[in-house]
This record gives sequence, C-alpha cells and structure tokens, in this order.
Amino acid sequence: MTIAERVRGSPACLANLVEAACDSSPIAGLTHNFYRYPARFSPKLVRAAIDAFTDPGDLVLDPFVGGGTTLVEAMVSGRHAIGSDISSLATFVSEVKTTLFTDAELERLTKWAGTIAAGINIWAPVTQDVMYENAGYMRNLDGAATWRLKKAIEQVLQTARLLNSSRLEAFARCVVLRTAQWALNGRKKLPTIDDFREMLCTDAAAMIEGSRALREAIKTGGHAEVKVHCLNRTTNGLETEKIFATGKAPQLVVTSPPYPGVHVLYHRWQVDGRKETPAPFWIANRLDGDGAAYYTMGARNTVQLNTYFANLRASLKSVAALCSRETMVVQVVAFSEPEWQLPRYLSVADDVGLIECILPNVNHASDGRLWRTVPNRKWYADQRGDTSSSQEVVLFHRKRL
Ligand SMILES: C[S@@+](CC[C@H](N)C(=O)[O-])C[C@H]1O[C@@H](n2cnc3c(N)ncnc32)[C@H](O)[C@@H]1O
Repeated sequence: MTIAERVRGSPACLANLVEAACDSSPIAGLTHNFYRYPARFSPKLVRAAIDAFTDPGDLVLDPFVGGGTTLVEAMVSGRHAIGSDISSLATFVSEVKTTLFTDAELERLTKWAGTIAAGINIWAPVTQDVMYENAGYMRNLDGAATWRLKKAIEQVLQTARLLNSSRLEAFARCVVLRTAQWALNGRKKLPTIDDFREMLCTDAAAMIEGSRALREAIKTGGHAEVKVHCLNRTTNGLETEKIFATGKAPQLVVTSPPYPGVHVLYHRWQVDGRKETPAPFWIANRLDGDGAAYYTMGARNTVQLNTYFANLRASLKSVAALCSRETMVVQVVAFSEPEWQLPRYLSVADDVGLIECILPNVNHASDGRLWRTVPNRKWYADQRGDTSSSQEVVLFHRKRL
C-alpha cells in the first residue's frame, strides 16, 4: 500500500502535510507554550499527520512524547492518544498540558494567580524543600545572581502546595516552571525580582487562557470524548504495557526520538554561563533519572554512536511490535552528520521490520524525502561545533507484512 492509498481524508491532506512540514511560524496556541520543551516539534506538522492518516476515534501513539505536542493535537482532533517518555519532566509537562480543568478549577487558579506576586518577598523566610536541596536538585542556584530567583521560586511553590489539589498544584508548578525557565535558562543577564513577578503573572494568565482554549477547541470539534494516557517509561519493551493488551493498534505513530549525535539538553537548564542545574525536576516535583546519556539514548562520544543505535533498534523494535499493517509511522529526526547517520538510521528501522515510504511529489531534496528547516534553532554537535542540524527530515514507515 502506498502512502497515497493510506491517506484517510482527501488527497489535499498530503499537500497539507508537506506545507505543514515547511511551515516555520512560531509554536503557539492551546496549551503548547506551557513549557519550551527542548526539540519540541511543530503542532501543525503533527496535526497534518493526524488528519492525513487517521479518523476520529483512532489511536495515535508518541513513544518519545517530550512536552506532549502529539497528545494535545490528538485531543483536539478527537483521536485517542498514548504518549510515553523516559523523562518524568516530559510526562509532567504532558500531563498538565492535557488536563481538562473545570470552570471551578480555572476560577481557583485565577484567584491563586492574583496572589502570587504579593507572595514573593526575598527578605522573608521560606521553608526549604530539604529533600530536593539535599539531593542536589538546586545545584548552581546559590550564586550571587541566582539565589534571589531561587528563593522567589520556593515561595511560589509553597503557595502551589496550599492549593490542596494535585491537579491544581501541578498546573501551578508548571506556571513556575515556564517562568523559571525564562528567567534562568541560557541567560546572560538575569531578570530582576520585579521582572520575574511580572512574567509569572503574565504566564499564569496566558496558561489559564490556554487551558480554556483547549477545552473550547475540543467542544467546537464536536468529537466524542477521547482518552489520553501518558506513561513514564522507556520505549524499549513498550509493547508489554497492559494498556496495549486489549485495545486496537495505533493507526498513527508520530514521534521525534532523540537525535543521533546532536546535543540537546532535555533534563537541565544552563545558568551562570554553562553551569547545569536539575532545578526543573525540583519545580515539577519529579525525580531525575540520570545523566544526559540517559535522555539521549547514549553519549555522543561512543564509537560510531553504537550505543545510540543499539537503543534505537530496541525502541523501534517495540514500536514495530505495536503497529498493525495499517499503521503509518512518522518520525521527525535531525542528524549531526546526515551522510552516514541517515542511512544507518534507515537500516536499523528496516532491520526491525519498518519499511520506508516516500511521499509522492515531494521535490524538496534530491533524495525525495521531506526535509524541513527549523527556525531559531542552533544545535551543538561535538565534532563540528555549530552544524546544519537545524535541518530535520520527516520519515515515513510502515510495518513489513
Ligand atoms: C526530540 S524529544 C521529543 C520532543 C517532542 N516531540 C515534543 O514535541 O515535545 C525526544 C524525547 O525522547 C525522550 N527519550 C530519550 N530516550 C528515551 C527512551 N529510551 N524511551 C523513551 N523516551 C526517551 C527524551 O526524554 C525526550 O523527551
């Protein structure tokens, strides 16, 4: 079966998919900006893949779900969705972004948002989160420039706990996460406490609006209610999860695994130059897994990225095991050295039973594949310094019959 034969909607769906892949507008709308998850992909591209390859009521799977882009787009288009990720930070963000808050809950969050600015007083005492402090989660936040922000964060987190509801507390923590990322990560000059207060209120208001917009979009879509699940686990062995035991196979897998040879810091923020802090896990109240290699399927300095490709093989094998003959697998991948990494990537996919499909009438590159340029993104790869990795390829596979 060709890609064109798998398309569920009109043939225009494929043209939309190509257009969406090339779209470079900033990520916006719904709950998508609750957190700037590193290497998140374009909601438009995900939506176009969902429209092209699924019907309402089908199941969409994203086994490297990151910040949950796929889950949000599946929800508003009436598709059931399962996301999984090895990072508890990823599943935290995905869960908050896909929670449907009631009017009463949004009202309480609005009230909470109205109190947070006044709750920040860096000269007032604050109860330390001893467990996270002792475990080193506040590493590199005690500098002359950072301690004030750390204290402000602690004070707002205290108010989040007082909401006495795990759903509301998670939302409030996510507001702090977003603002703290803006305030601390990759900054040459840190904002003042007044700036932090102001941004926190702006973010809280925008996120409450985003949650409301998600609910409205689902209502306007008029689809039957869908189920969304988020699992915190590795993709390797995913097919053994109970949730897949009885249900239908996914109609679409749309995902973006860690990129071969490309350094993306999924689990840390960089403060004071390039010092790393695990603070996002503290703010989210989640435990960190391990070092960078844990989140990227292997260190970049292993020979020929052998660890990465071994992990990729195990993961794609599990993805293939979950697919039926109908499933379309769409992957967005960037490479530090595409010349040899892309063929090896495709060979691993082929080994586990995933056959590449080429989109008809795509003439964007001499190889016939759909390449996209990602705006405002500069990867850093070991061997080459700044690389061309802001180019990503969209790969299409189906299961070998
Ligand atoms: C490119 S990001 C996905 C971003 C996502 N598409 C989004 O829009 O936010 C890759 C994700 O793979 C996760 N990951 C890495 N190794 C994994 C593994 N073995 N199993 C599951 N997830 C893994 C990382 O934690 C990271 O969140």
